[in-house]
Amino acid sequence: MPKDLACVILAAGKGTRLKSEIAKVLHSAGGRTLVEHVITACLPLEGEILTVVGHQAESVTAAVAPFKSKTVLQRPQNGTGHAMLIARAAISAKARLAIVLPGDAPLIRTETLIALIEAHRKGEAAATVLTAELDDPTGYGRIVRKKDSSVAAIVEEKSATEAQRKIREVNSGIYCFSLEHLWPALAKVRPENAHHELYLTDAVAELNKTGKRVLAVKAASAREILGCNTRAELAEADRIFRALKAAALMDAGVTIYLPETVLIDPEVEVESDSVIEPGVQLLGKTRIGPHCRIQSGSVLTDSKLEHHVLVRQHSIITGSSLSAGAIVGPFARLREGTELLAGARVGNFVEVKKSTLGEGVKAMHLSYLGDLTVGRESNIGAGTITCNYDGMKKYPTTIGERVFVGSDSALVAPVRIGDRAYIAAGSTVTDDVPADALAIARGCQVNKEGWAAERRRRMAEAAAASAEQKVRDGNNLSKQKSQGPSPKGKRGKRSSRP
Ligand code: UD1
Ligand code: MG
Repeated sequence: MPKDLACVILAAGKGTRLKSEIAKVLHSAGGRTLVEHVITACLPLEGEILTVVGHQAESVTAAVAPFKSKTVLQRPQNGTGHAMLIARAAISAKARLAIVLPGDAPLIRTETLIALIEAHRKGEAAATVLTAELDDPTGYGRIVRKKDSSVAAIVEEKSATEAQRKIREVNSGIYCFSLEHLWPALAKVRPENAHHELYLTDAVAELNKTGKRVLAVKAASAREILGCNTRAELAEADRIFRALKAAALMDAGVTIYLPETVLIDPEVEVESDSVIEPGVQLLGKTRIGPHCRIQSGSVLTDSKLEHHVLVRQHSIITGSSLSAGAIVGPFARLREGTELLAGARVGNFVEVKKSTLGEGVKAMHLSYLGDLTVGRESNIGAGTITCNYDGMKKYPTTIGERVFVGSDSALVAPVRIGDRAYIAAGSTVTDDVPADALAIARGCQVNKEGWAAERRRRMAEAAAASAEQKVRDGNNLSKQKSQGPSPKGKRGKRSSRP
């Protein structure tokens, strides 16, 4: 692609219809912000990239910075034509052509932009508009064609006549302009519309007035031009991106059940013969090798799984690395810096943070394991807790190979457990344990022979005595009743005991 091309992304608007404090182009669909999608489509064209920012200029500038886009500030935002006039000063002098794109139409593809530039050059046009036929064109500018099929004007919804509103061919907001013709036409545009803005679309009619050709190229698919002006359109763009990603993975040999329920970010990689169950989220830069299975409700972020890894239902895995044959969950939580070596297993309600579990290690139930290194084939009993934090600093725990940590042990870090050692259940381990030792660190058990039987006998005695007393009290009461009420009235003074 020649270097006389500038790509101008219009991203200064507020996006009033989203009813949001966040600038429209910073809303996300398909795991990326809208403006990132648009820039990504422009990158292969190898032209200079310029983003017009205004509303939340700093945040939008930060979002486009990694893509080497220059920015230019439009304040106030007086319309898409005004945005182009502001951009003019920042476009390099060698640029002859400009592709102009709205920052809120994220589904545009590079191939379509290339076709637009080719059609523009071939047709020797002053401007070429990317259009689409929509069943419901509401909200978009309508394309008014001349008899020779070139474009006479673009009419915005609010300015359109009844007949023009029936036109189903709409403006995508994506154009290729020959800059030498655009600037004089744009200079003549006036803010004569409902919003008192300078519309870039009005430049088309101005070009026609001076006999310049404006062409239209139809996008292969209408969905490519979807603008995200409302939350509903944003959700639709997201749905399309997610479906495209799932379809690409299925094409590459991944099984996805109910693909419409999974959420997979653009940079996620999954290798063939892996299975993704309904309701799974694969986010960030997650990479999954072949023959893995990710069961329903699990959320994996920036994590790496080798092959034959099983993630059972509802496991949350972030910034972790799982070697071949590892099994996790259900309901496990692996946090930043967790490493499971081959065949390691982490079961239900186990939280692991910044820890390495060696080959074949098992931690199957109800544990917190933080800042821990465990050697191969050790067993971490149910309810084991690494006490890694003293309120100010974190400390490490090291467990050797083939260690057996009994259930409900508290390992108070820093502490080291040697190879093949045993920790008795319920221990609070504060000192290092040598290899091959048994550590018991809990209150000693005392058995009191016969204590329970004696207690039962005493309780039975007490119950019998109380029953007898009740009988005596009952007899006294019936005697009093048969003697009639006392002279002072029915509820007179209680008789004293005989
Ligand atoms: C615009 C087009 C419409 C087209 C539609 C396609 C105009 C007048 N209308 O309408 O024909 O069918 O896109 O999606 O161009 N922006 C600025 N500065 C401004 C105003 C807007 O940078 O002063 C940016 C916005 O951030 C947005 C883009 O330009 O990314 C388009 O603006 P928007 O308000 O969404 O225009 P639409 O009403 O969608
Ligand atoms: Mg729009």
